[in-house]
Amino acid sequence: KDIKEKSYARPAIRVIAHRGASAAMTEHTFQSYEEAIREGCRQIELDVYQSKDGTLYVSHDPSTLRLTGKDYIINDTNDEVLSSLTVENGETLHTVQEFFNHFGNKVLYLIELKEGTPALDNLQKLLEKNPKLLSNITVQTWDVQSLIALESRYPEMFKQLLMSTEQDIASYVKCSWIDSFAVAFPHIRKEDVELAHSYGKQYWGWTINEEVDMQKCEELGVDGVISDKPDLALQIMGIN
Ligand code: G3P
Ligand code: CA
Repeated sequence: KDIKEKSYARPAIRVIAHRGASAAMTEHTFQSYEEAIREGCRQIELDVYQSKDGTLYVSHDPSTLRLTGKDYIINDTNDEVLSSLTVENGETLHTVQEFFNHFGNKVLYLIELKEGTPALDNLQKLLEKNPKLLSNITVQTWDVQSLIALESRYPEMFKQLLMSTEQDIASYVKCSWIDSFAVAFPHIRKEDVELAHSYGKQYWGWTINEEVDMQKCEELGVDGVISDKPDLALQIMGIN
């Protein structure tokens, strides 16, 4: 599969808003993402867990405590309870479907599957309900099995592997089910960026909030950054 066939999912995007403009606003709220979009950001990152009923909710943590002040494990809780929870700005805890309804196709989505393969069937159901958004969606995960499974279900989808320092991109760079690497700063290495590019893969950095680190990413040749400060990143990294 040629990387160019998938390039619709990445039209020269350089900055992804990490949980929205989350340095300034409450993470994972519409308000936070709306701010990022106002600043010029065109791709937004959502962390995702599934409820007991199989609905995908946007939360970085497996528990709702930090976001809502009430402690429910999302996996173990049904939608009736989860949909009644509010965050500090008065918004509810949102489902991914609510994000799709709210933002539609005016943004690209970076969906981080926090649970890996157990959530795949419910992700598929969600995508089947939103076929027009398929080309707007990149899925990222630490779990290679999820990416392999997604490749067979959605070969055209852009897929991103999250990487930590212990991992070596050389062992993955030839894999057709990876379109992009997302590597934790400061473990970004110029030789890895070049290796990824030589195989037609993208190479992203996370979570990059300091100007000096954004400039370093530019020097290292990364394709873009995932940041809590999309306004700053857009200034440093250029047009989104
Ligand atoms: O997008 C990369 C980054 O979000 C992974 O870390 O813990 O913020 O989900 P975390
Ligand atoms: Ca994330």
